[in-house]
Amino acid sequence: MNNRGQNTEYRRQNLDSFNAEAQIIVAKYDKKSAAVLPLLHFAQDKIGYVTPEAEAWVAKHSEVPLVHVHEVVTFYSMYHKNPVGKNHIRFCTTTSCVLMGGEKVLAHLKKKLGVENGGVTEDGKFSLEEAECLCACEVAPMMQVQDKYYGPLDEKKVDEILDKIK
Ligand code: FES
Repeated sequence: MNNRGQNTEYRRQNLDSFNAEAQIIVAKYDKKSAAVLPLLHFAQDKIGYVTPEAEAWVAKHSEVPLVHVHEVVTFYSMYHKNPVGKNHIRFCTTTSCVLMGGEKVLAHLKKKLGVENGGVTEDGKFSLEEAECLCACEVAPMMQVQDKYYGPLDEKKVDEILDKIK
């Protein structure tokens, strides 16, 4: 187990090698400033999380002040401020999911991965984040892995999902 795993280092790349891609993204919008969110997504996809250097890269291409880019990054939970695993798990810890047994399932997930909230597995394959309601209460308890939602969960289903992803 490690915190915010150094194993994600392999995902780091110099964003300046993607300047041409940034210009293509920016060209899709009437105003360069409208490209902040897609540029941040692009940067995060390439290097795994939004570093201060990535914020500066987005600010440069969108011509938005760096402080505003930083505000966006810190406002939206979809942007990672620290390294995450290849498969980032967001486990809902809000009321509906808790009432449907989410705490027990989350404890099982933590034990299985060997990480606590905010941790990254040794092999860098998974990271775990406890999240507020992910607006899928009808399948509580639930979790999000990358862009996919899973629920209702129990310990057996969590095992099956992790095995399938591996
Ligand atoms: S409370 Fe868990 S998805 Fe809404």
